[in-house]
Amino acid sequence: EEISKAVEEILGLTGTEDALSEGIIQGSNESSVILETPPDSKMGDIAIPCFVFAKILHKNPAVIAADLKNGLEQKKEELGLDEVICVGGYCNLFVNRKLFVENTLTKVADGNHGVEKIGEKKTVCMDYSSPNIAKNFHVGHLRTTVIGNSLYKIYDKLGYNVVRINHLGDWGTQFGKLIVAYKKWSSKEAVEKNGIQELLDIYVKFNNEKEEHPELMDEARSWFVAMEHGDKEALSIWEWFKDISMVEFERVYDMLGISFDSYTGESFYREKVPALVEILKEKNLLTESQGANVIDLSEYDMAPCMITKKDGSSIYHSRDIAAVLYRKEKYDFDKCLYVTGLEQSLHFKQVFKAIELMGLDYYKNLVHVPYGLVSLDGEKLSTRTGNIIYAEDILNEAVKRAYELIEEKNPSLENKEEVAKKVGIGAVIFHDLFNQRIKNINFSWKEVLSFDGATGPYVQYTYARAKSVLRKYGKELQCTLTDCQALTDDISFALIKTIGGYENAVNVAAERYEPSIVARYLISLCTDFNKFYQECPILKEENVKTKEARLYLVYVTSQIVFECCGLLGIECPEEM
Ligand code: ARG
Repeated sequence: EEISKAVEEILGLTGTEDALSEGIIQGSNESSVILETPPDSKMGDIAIPCFVFAKILHKNPAVIAADLKNGLEQKKEELGLDEVICVGGYCNLFVNRKLFVENTLTKVADGNHGVEKIGEKKTVCMDYSSPNIAKNFHVGHLRTTVIGNSLYKIYDKLGYNVVRINHLGDWGTQFGKLIVAYKKWSSKEAVEKNGIQELLDIYVKFNNEKEEHPELMDEARSWFVAMEHGDKEALSIWEWFKDISMVEFERVYDMLGISFDSYTGESFYREKVPALVEILKEKNLLTESQGANVIDLSEYDMAPCMITKKDGSSIYHSRDIAAVLYRKEKYDFDKCLYVTGLEQSLHFKQVFKAIELMGLDYYKNLVHVPYGLVSLDGEKLSTRTGNIIYAEDILNEAVKRAYELIEEKNPSLENKEEVAKKVGIGAVIFHDLFNQRIKNINFSWKEVLSFDGATGPYVQYTYARAKSVLRKYGKELQCTLTDCQALTDDISFALIKTIGGYENAVNVAAERYEPSIVARYLISLCTDFNKFYQECPILKEENVKTKEARLYLVYVTSQIVFECCGLLGIECPEEM
């Protein structure tokens, strides 16, 4: 920041905000100055590309770089710089390493590792996971669950008050179908024995049978209407299906170490839809369309948003609109996020538009956070075709694989089972979070179970390695920095620069709702650390001060690696 200011001053750039917004120059929000990292640290620690200013200053980039060098040299001390050089159209800076080491390590030594709690007193509702009752918890739901959980941890780290909401898919016509199917083809014993699988099987059977027996659909519809009207029998069967499903969902949440603040799902909002209908009528927003009540959105190039169906029952959209009103009232959120698959984009556009048309200004604070599709061998996953992978199977398989690996590589390890659990599940979570969330994933067992390269186990291994050094040192570590100068060599310095980027990584990840930024940051941190571990003697170092400084760096790195894992929802074994 200080450097940016100095550059603007030296170049006499005024009104850069206007120039920025008009696109005459490039840069970030407030500053026209782009700071880059040179590809080779021998060329400097920071590079300022000067061609950016060429248009506005009507000068050759090399001339600008020279001007900049002259100006910055006057301020070297004040800015903590050692040297300023020109490389073509770039002005490159060498920071004073000792000062930088001291500042960075002091900054991350505070309670929150240098991350400012910018979210204090702000509330964010996060709607994620939200599986459908009576359907299996599959890889798609695994994505929303781990992405949502990581966003929760990231926002929590920044001091936000986060409300974790599991908006269960526990209402809708499908339950009418299920009741009919249950009565015709299943039994209490079968459901108790086979759980969700039984419900799924009879659901599929219903869908096949209805082709030939359309009257089944009428029956299903009337059961659902009965549910909407509070029919005792219908509701008790539905309640039971819900309990059966929750047991299976909780098993997955337990494995992932995830919990929620609220499980109020769609059924909770059905009773709030009649009041919503009244408000919409009052605001003249409702139109009738073939007996149904809709909000016409043709003006905005969207399909109409359905509010109640022909038979008067509520629907996914109206239950979501009611949920927005309820959450605003109950939590007074500053932001409400919805983590779902990209295919629900239109749904959320319609819901948010409805809120806007109702004159509620906070529609601006509703954010859809979509993620890409998961496919299997290039095919869409579908319950109907049986092309499906269950979350629980993936987690179990990964834990098994991790156990086998430990048996092979470190058979004398204590608590092998516990470690295998952390490693296997960590691998699945990391695999999911490493790529940008919007990218489609082609599910491959080989990749999910790979423990090499940029993976969860690699990160966990790095942590265990750092902890092992600290353990071997044995003595209570003096957790103070004794000698900054000892950490100014290229390799230690590269690691410290990465450590200095921690706060930024957390902030950018939060801004973009993108856990992959933390995951990628974590990989660079581990790579830099492993280089340091290999090249710089730690316990064998003879100079006591240097040794202590290096140990301190090991300690700080281990803490940040541990924390980053926590931000992704991954646990780290102390040994592996
Ligand atoms: N139950 C839905 C599904 O499984 C996701 C619900 C997302 N949240 C919401 N408020 N609509 O696809």
